[in-house]
Amino acid sequence: MDGLAGLARGSVVAVIGSGAMGAGIAQIAAASGHEVRLFDTREGAAATAVLEIGKVYGKLVEKGRMSELEASLARERLKTVASLGEVAGAAIVIEAIVENLEAKRKLFAELEGIVDERCILATNTSSISVTAIAAPLKHPERLVGMHFFNPVPLMALVEVISGLATDESLANTVFATAQAWGKEPVHAKSTPGFIVNRVARPYYAEALRLLQEGASDAATLDAVMREGGGFRMGPFELMDLIGHDVNFSVTQSVHAAYYGDGRFTPSVVQQELVNAGFLGRKTGRGFYRYGEGAAKPVVQAESAQPRPNTVAISIPREVKTSILTPMEARLAAAGFSVAHREPLHGVEKNEAPALHCNGAAIYLTDGRSATERAAANGHANTVVYDLLFDHAKATRIALARADQCSIDAWQAAVGLFQAAGFEVTRFDDVPGMAVMRTVAMLANEAADAVNQGVCSARAVDIAMQKGVNYPRGPLAWADAIGLHHVVTVLANLGATYGEDRYRVSPLLRRKLAANPAEPRFHA
Ligand code: NAI
Repeated sequence: MDGLAGLARGSVVAVIGSGAMGAGIAQIAAASGHEVRLFDTREGAAATAVLEIGKVYGKLVEKGRMSELEASLARERLKTVASLGEVAGAAIVIEAIVENLEAKRKLFAELEGIVDERCILATNTSSISVTAIAAPLKHPERLVGMHFFNPVPLMALVEVISGLATDESLANTVFATAQAWGKEPVHAKSTPGFIVNRVARPYYAEALRLLQEGASDAATLDAVMREGGGFRMGPFELMDLIGHDVNFSVTQSVHAAYYGDGRFTPSVVQQELVNAGFLGRKTGRGFYRYGEGAAKPVVQAESAQPRPNTVAISIPREVKTSILTPMEARLAAAGFSVAHREPLHGVEKNEAPALHCNGAAIYLTDGRSATERAAANGHANTVVYDLLFDHAKATRIALARADQCSIDAWQAAVGLFQAAGFEVTRFDDVPGMAVMRTVAMLANEAADAVNQGVCSARAVDIAMQKGVNYPRGPLAWADAIGLHHVVTVLANLGATYGEDRYRVSPLLRRKLAANPAEPRFHA
């Protein structure tokens, strides 16, 4: 969409609702050269917001991010209005009032009688159908979703949402306008959760299941997701920050909107937190405790084991690119000369590439538990490890041990990864572990969103990086893991749990069929 024209600089942007979102939108619109008119029904709210925005500009000047002149011009361009009638000359009206369909419909109906016919009507709704908001309007084609993320000045993503009636040229104008405001917009169809609030569901859901199944405790799972998975915040600390009431209600609404699709089933663990009023940071307690005297959470790590002398790798003949290659590089960097040997017996010939160390066979998780894999292979000493985002930089790795695995073989595996510079965390033997299971499910949801025409593969990857700070877009990440492996993980989870939740997206299967040698989402 590059190169399309956005709204002219200097044109009037009206913002309705001066809460957290409206104030942020007004701030960036005025800083980007627009005349801004801010309206709020609550007495004095808009004026307070304008004062606060003025202070923010002052801080940006101190930090050298804005000149004195730019700040004073932006302040001059930003004005409150006392009645809705005063937004008559606006080129766009952006609504950021309460999240309520009737309130929004009422506002837009009123606005239709005020603004001229070329004015774009935009809603910042995060969960209501844009189609439904537009439906009663005389001109539903001029209503479009412009979904900013909180805090608006810091989060780059804007989801530009088209309802069924939305005029695509207006969506393009809004897209280009967001770009001109320094944002990273993506187009999406009006569907429950749009892109981010839908595709992010597994980030919380899989973590809640891992906790429920006793894989580990919240602090340890968070540490693995951060230090191994490369996520900025672990799922439990993030849910505590968002607030369990808010996070749970988004999950419930997406679940209900998709008519109870098992993919989105809410967690009884989170329901109990809400029942207890343990809503997270804001109430001083969620998964963690906050405030003075709160104990620092302890992250589980294995005690130091001796460095093994040798490690070998076996790669079945038909495997062309080994998913163990980056791990091999990490081990080599730690001074191990990793011998390549022929797969010895039937099992090794059929299985995925494995590291061999003092009798232990160590695999990247494929969605089966280590115990199940050990039984299938007839090799008791089986250990699996979790996916890493960046093998060179990861500081922590999670391992799981088959119930049949000997203590010697387990300790050899722990010693190997410790010698390679990892803190080693042991998970109880849950299928798919944490990072792998989460990323596979994020990619699956992203693939479904693309398959259902909600957005493009490029858009979903941008959205998850810019809207929730994932270290990599889920589809690019699936490409990096290998789509065959991602599908194997999902299929194994599906077989283990017998739940529709883990069904593989048709688009993933289609990619494998179209290009079995090198299936990819991105060229
Ligand atoms: P808020 O509660 O901080 O602010 C809403 C403001 O709108 C209040 O100042 C209220 O007085 C005013 N208001 C209510 N009805 C009005 C009306 N009919 N006319 C004029 N002003 C009215 O809410 P917040 O968080 O700023 O959210 C606003 C909208 O943005 C909601 O639709 C929300 O779903 C959406 N949103 C919120 C995000 C968030 O993280 N808070 C993220 C993305 C979207």
